[in-house]
Amino acid sequence: KPTVNPDKQPARYATIIFMRELARHEDQLFPFPIYRELRENTPVRFDEDRNSWDVFRYEDVHRILKDPAAFSSRRGLEVRGETLLTMDQPKHTHMRNLVNKAFTPKAINDLAPRISSITNELLDQVIQSGKMDVVHDLATPLPVIVIAELLGVPAKDRMLFKEWSDTMVKGVEGSSDEAFAQMVAERDKAEKELSAYFLAILNERRKQPEDDLVSALLQAEIDGEKLQEQEILRFCILLLVAGNETTTNLITNAVRLLTEQPAIQNQVRQNPELVKTTVEETLRFYPPIVAIGRMTTQDVEIGGQLIREGQQVVSWVGAANRDPEKFEDPDTFLPDRKPNPHMGFGFGIHFCLGAPLARLEAQIALEIMLSRMDDLSFAKTTLTPIPSPFVFGVKSYPITFSAR
Ligand code: HEM
Repeated sequence: KPTVNPDKQPARYATIIFMRELARHEDQLFPFPIYRELRENTPVRFDEDRNSWDVFRYEDVHRILKDPAAFSSRRGLEVRGETLLTMDQPKHTHMRNLVNKAFTPKAINDLAPRISSITNELLDQVIQSGKMDVVHDLATPLPVIVIAELLGVPAKDRMLFKEWSDTMVKGVEGSSDEAFAQMVAERDKAEKELSAYFLAILNERRKQPEDDLVSALLQAEIDGEKLQEQEILRFCILLLVAGNETTTNLITNAVRLLTEQPAIQNQVRQNPELVKTTVEETLRFYPPIVAIGRMTTQDVEIGGQLIREGQQVVSWVGAANRDPEKFEDPDTFLPDRKPNPHMGFGFGIHFCLGAPLARLEAQIALEIMLSRMDDLSFAKTTLTPIPSPFVFGVKSYPITFSAR
């Protein structure tokens, strides 16, 4: 029965280091055989190295995400103040209702024409050359530009934006205390700069509202209660942190799959109505977020194991999404899989707020790539994984193609 060992790293530290099984780059580039082994042999286990529980089966992960009272999202990560992502009920419900008002599926769908033209403009720059780096040329700039426009950030500040949001999601490279301290310092600096930047925008919109998310957040009101300035600031920053790199990885992971399986690439190109389900299947098969952290608020039993109050529990969505108990033929990518109850966007009260936006961007990006380019092929180079244990993605993904 594990208890918290005070000599060990605090939970906050444990959340950002890889499990020992995934120490090698090759395994981070393709962790699924390891997930499978862990799911089959130790579906619920305590990892001494990280002072954390790990849960791998679909049913168990689902149960955890469905029970926010026993599995809290406040896990000591709130060094920079609370956000939606780290709040519990009832505060979470209140905040989520407020931001939902400004972040409706309708508002997102209205962005489709704009997302298409940004995608086309980005592809115009590479189409003649017959090659591109999917990460650099499309999957990174697209979500940054879209979220910047949604928030009402001027185009000239976009690259600043990208730098800040990159810094804020960067994992720690290595496992030394110095590396950790440096990462925290860099994040804090980026956060301060971003806050100052958004504060200026907020003040402008307060004087002169525009048709953007910041103005809508300033207006959003429930039972006469408005969001406080600090809450809006932290929420804007959360959107960047939670939305940009994840969407970059979704688009890249989808293209990666289509280059690994050319038959599927052709099938989807010939049947564009499959793009939607292909994006969903990517979220199951190659999910950008592979692990979701919680902290127990009471003693609970999961998969026959007693987990004590106050323990960190990591739900491995990447493993759960390929659980044969839930998905038929889980290691086969089916571009038309239906139903597809993957947990790539999480599940329950914290289900990804940005899911409609991420889906739309990925669908449009794939649709346009497949309609303008034939023979998407991986330009074989060494791949580098994103150095975060929670993320599945690569730093760059060069491809060749023939323009149509
Ligand atoms: C929450 C994944 C894109 C904003 C989440 C969660 C996951 C997730 C797994 C749940 C975390 C938890 O339960 O602790 C993804 C993936 C994306 C994506 C895979 C892209 C493919 C976006 C975008 C935005 C966004 C584009 C906003 C522009 C949020 C927010 C939350 C969240 C605000 C917190 C919701 C809450 O706690 O109530 N996301 N996300 N995400 N996501 Fe996303």
